[in-house]
Amino acid sequence: MRVSRDMFDLSGKVAIVTGGSRGIGKAICHGLATFGAAVTVAGISPGNEDTARQIRESGGRAVYVPCDVSKPDQCRNAVAQAVATFGRLDILVNNAGTATVDPAEAVSEEEWDRVIGVNLRGLFFMSQAAARIMIERKTGGRIINIGSIFGTVGSEIGASVYHASKGGVMILTRALACEWAKYGILVNTIGPGFIKTEMTRSIEEVPELYRLIRDRHALKRFGVPEEIVGAVIFFASDASTFVTGQNLYVDGGYTVW
Ligand SMILES: NC(=O)c1ccc[n+]([C@@H]2O[C@H](COP(=O)([O-])OP(=O)(O)OC[C@H]3O[C@@H](n4cnc5c(N)ncnc54)[C@H](O)[C@@H]3O)[C@@H](O)[C@H]2O)c1
Repeated sequence: MRVSRDMFDLSGKVAIVTGGSRGIGKAICHGLATFGAAVTVAGISPGNEDTARQIRESGGRAVYVPCDVSKPDQCRNAVAQAVATFGRLDILVNNAGTATVDPAEAVSEEEWDRVIGVNLRGLFFMSQAAARIMIERKTGGRIINIGSIFGTVGSEIGASVYHASKGGVMILTRALACEWAKYGILVNTIGPGFIKTEMTRSIEEVPELYRLIRDRHALKRFGVPEEIVGAVIFFASDASTFVTGQNLYVDGGYTVW
C-alpha cells in the first residue's frame, strides 16, 4: 500500500449526507465536495437544496433529495435517487438528528418516538438502504454515523431520550461493522462534543448553563461544525481502510477527564 496525500482524495466517490441544511451536516456536505465526492443532500427542509446549489456553484457535484429519515421508504428512495443520479454509492453520512430537553419524568411517548425515530430508527433504515446497494453491487463502502458524547456520558440537562438514541447509535455501529465487514462496508461513529449550531443555541442563551457545559470540555469552548469535517474525511477515505466499528470523539476533551 502506497502512502501519499492522495489517500484523503474522494474524487469519483459518491456520498449521501442526511440533514445537510445547516450546522454539522452542511459543513460535512461542503467538506466531502471539497475532497472530490459527489454529494446527495438528503433532508426535510429547503436548506438542503441550498447546500446542494452552493456546492454546484463552487464547481462541485451535488443534488438535493427530499427525505425524512424517520420514514424508511423515503430512505430507500434517497439512496435510489443518489445511485440513479451519480451511478454508484460509496459513502453514507448519517447526520440528521433531533433533540429534546425535558426532565425524564415528563417525557411523553410522542417525544420518545420522535427522537428515537430520527436518531436511531432513521439511522438504521438509512444504513440498511445504503448497505443493500453496496452489497448488491459488491462495491463495499463507508457508513459514518454522527453520534455524540451523550452516547457515552450522562447529563442532568433533561436529555435522557437523546442519550438513549446516541447510545444506541454507538452499539449499532459496532454490530453493523461486524455484520457488514464481509461485504467491505466499514462502519464508524464520530462523537462530537458541544458544537455551535441551532441544536445548542438554547444552551448558549442561558449563560450559567453555557459556562457549566463549556467548562466540561478540556479546551474550555464549544466547537464549530467545520471541526467535525476532518474526521469524516478520514472515515470516508483510504486513510482509514483498517478502521471499523470505532467511535472517534471530536469533543474538545469533554470525555478525557
Ligand atoms: N451540535 C452539537 O453540539 C452536537 C453534538 C453531538 C452530536 N450532534 C449531532 O450532530 C448531528 C447534526 O446536529 P446539528 O448540531 O448540526 O443540528 P441541527 O439541528 O443544526 O441540524 C440537524 C439537521 O438534521 C435535519 N433533520 C432533523 N430531523 C430530520 C429528519 N426526520 N429527516 C431528515 N433530516 C432531519 C435537520 O433538518 C437539520 O438539517 C445530529 O445528529 C446531532 O445529534 C450535535
